[in-house]
Amino acid sequence: MRILHTVGARPNFMKAAPVIQALAQRGHRQILVHTGQHYDPNMSDVFLQQLDMPRPDVNLEVGSGSHAQQTAEVMIRLEPVLLERKPDIVLVYGDVNSTLAAALVCVKLRIPVAHVEAGLRAFDQSMPEEINRLLTDQISDMLFTPSSDADENLLREGITRDKIRLVGNVMIDTACRLLPKAAGHMLTGLPDRYALVTLHRPANVDDAAFMDQVARTLSAWSREIAIVFPMHPRTRQRFKDLRLETICNGNFHLLGPLPYLSFLALQQRATLVITDSGGVQEETTFLKVPCLTVRESTERPVTVITGTNVLVGRDMARLSEGIERVLSGHSKKGEIPPLWDGHAAERIAKTVEG
Ligand code: UD1
Repeated sequence: MRILHTVGARPNFMKAAPVIQALAQRGHRQILVHTGQHYDPNMSDVFLQQLDMPRPDVNLEVGSGSHAQQTAEVMIRLEPVLLERKPDIVLVYGDVNSTLAAALVCVKLRIPVAHVEAGLRAFDQSMPEEINRLLTDQISDMLFTPSSDADENLLREGITRDKIRLVGNVMIDTACRLLPKAAGHMLTGLPDRYALVTLHRPANVDDAAFMDQVARTLSAWSREIAIVFPMHPRTRQRFKDLRLETICNGNFHLLGPLPYLSFLALQQRATLVITDSGGVQEETTFLKVPCLTVRESTERPVTVITGTNVLVGRDMARLSEGIERVLSGHSKKGEIPPLWDGHAAERIAKTVEG
């Protein structure tokens, strides 16, 4: 088969890598298209290298822009590539703007499209990712889900069961494979105990009052435990604009975006993780590291029901309570969800072959 994959933003790469490898082992011809949504070397190239991904055959170089601009540019630039390469099927990943844009182009050209990580719902349509998930799922021909709640969401939305395959979590395939290697990429010079923090969602980062509260809360806690905070470019910019670096003057380690292996090693050894990322909620559940999610809802409820994740909302009192609980040795003990076993991509490859 001639199989085309589209990827665009940082969290796509660890999802596509195991699927590309599983299909390569089965001898399929594959084409990798990078939309260029993320373009900084430390948000893109370093991930492709560390994940042993092939070099993209095509880079659409769409870059940053408004949601409409970014989505439209991917569509305009992807269409001629699909017309020329004529894939039998296109695989799209996750919930970023590139995902929806690629799926839309495929459905209009009547090229079958498979969505990897289908069915996740936060039931919050103010999140751009929720719109991307809902629409991508409605127009995809095959829906590969990571957990049974996703199957239920899809069925409720009228998608027929024959399109849905519960395969498990491809991001965990990558974590399983690379965990042994990650140990060699641990950052040096950090204390043994630390809280790892990531924040990048516009709903959090673009809210000046919230960011100010977070910086003050973390600064107060940094007297008890070191704070390691690798920043997305958007977060770093907001920190600069709001002069928050001056508040974070305790036991703080403010860093730039980290490569996959260093970040995985940091998560594994963290005393706790504070995040608003989707993937980090999953990885901490897999690693059995306590996670406090600074959001009101999650599209990954299995990480709360089964795993180590606790939603603390955007409420600093609840965040502090959560930190306190972990530091006093009362963190939530979680289990690894079914099928998060390192073999999700093989299941996808078998189904794609039909
Ligand atoms: C995107 C995804 C989000 C995902 C996140 C992971 C959407 C709607 N959002 O958000 O779901 O969790 O990726 O990182 O698709 N920038 C750079 N260098 C880059 C890329 C971006 O500096 O390589 C800066 C630019 O200022 C840009 C901003 O980050 O405007 C936001 O980038 P964008 O791709 O629009 O969305 P993310 O916030 O990264």
